[in-house]
Amino acid sequence: MQHIPVLLDEVIQFLNPKPGGRFIDATLGGGGHTRAILERTAPDGIVLGIDQDESALSSAKAMLESFGSRVAFVHSNFRALRTIAEESGFMECDGVLADLGISSMMVDDPTRGFSFMHEGPLDMRMDRTQRLTAADLLNTYSEKEIADIIYTYGEERRSRPIARSIVRLRPLQRTTDLVRAIERVSGRPRYGQIHPATRTFQALRIYVNDELKSLEEFLDSSMIVVRSGGRVVVITFHSLEDRIVKQQFRASRVSGRVMTKKVVRPSDEEVRRNPRARSAKLRAWERS
Ligand SMILES: C[S@@+](CC[C@H](N)C(=O)[O-])C[C@H]1O[C@@H](n2cnc3c(N)ncnc32)[C@H](O)[C@@H]1O
Repeated sequence: MQHIPVLLDEVIQFLNPKPGGRFIDATLGGGGHTRAILERTAPDGIVLGIDQDESALSSAKAMLESFGSRVAFVHSNFRALRTIAEESGFMECDGVLADLGISSMMVDDPTRGFSFMHEGPLDMRMDRTQRLTAADLLNTYSEKEIADIIYTYGEERRSRPIARSIVRLRPLQRTTDLVRAIERVSGRPRYGQIHPATRTFQALRIYVNDELKSLEEFLDSSMIVVRSGGRVVVITFHSLEDRIVKQQFRASRVSGRVMTKKVVRPSDEEVRRNPRARSAKLRAWERS
């Protein structure tokens, strides 16, 4: 499925791109937000698109081809934002955007192992040049380590019995092996409930990709790379991420103001059109 950009109007409202503007999209994904920024910064505005997933970069490159040299691409984790901005001439830029998590393309690709809905290898790496996969973790970490990961990053109450069940069923190779281990403890999904594997899959993905640490480092740098009056806009999809953004914007080392006194949520109409937007939360900050 093609990725539909989430909270697009709100992103544009807060970033406020103008002709000639210079922006960094730290999570390029399918390129939907970048496209909108490029359209509004025409004829000479530029965007630097970062993604740690090489396949996202190549499909975004093809999608944005018509913008020519107005868009540049970097394969990297966004935790290196400051170095990337320095090396690419994007210091003092007008705005930085991060739309966290994984794209619909990644969720729907069974070879990536992100979804309990698809049979595939237990991979879960956003950057496939990285070594650690979810299978490595599940097959080599101790029961306690696995339980702690599921509890901390999934906020899963049944982390201990799930970890015990995982260790009993080792080696786990496929997403279906993991779903079986979870269902042994939590039962099969009931209509209207969230799937019992949701929290465990979230936890493993966050751990494998070191998502929370990367986010903290990214936020620190984002507030440094924008110019005075420049803006940082972040969309999160779960409470662990949102808490970090809220706190770091409030306690910024660089002087600035939080533009979103209340967190911004998608309208009912957007959620109807794009159910993936359901849990999205947007926060924005402006440098003084
Ligand atoms: C939700 S998608 C972004 C979708 C995009 N805004 C659009 O409109 O198409 C998130 C993307 O960010 C990338 N990503 C997530 N965390 C990252 C990180 N720490 N560093 C670099 N890229 C990251 C993922 O690989 C994925 O392609």
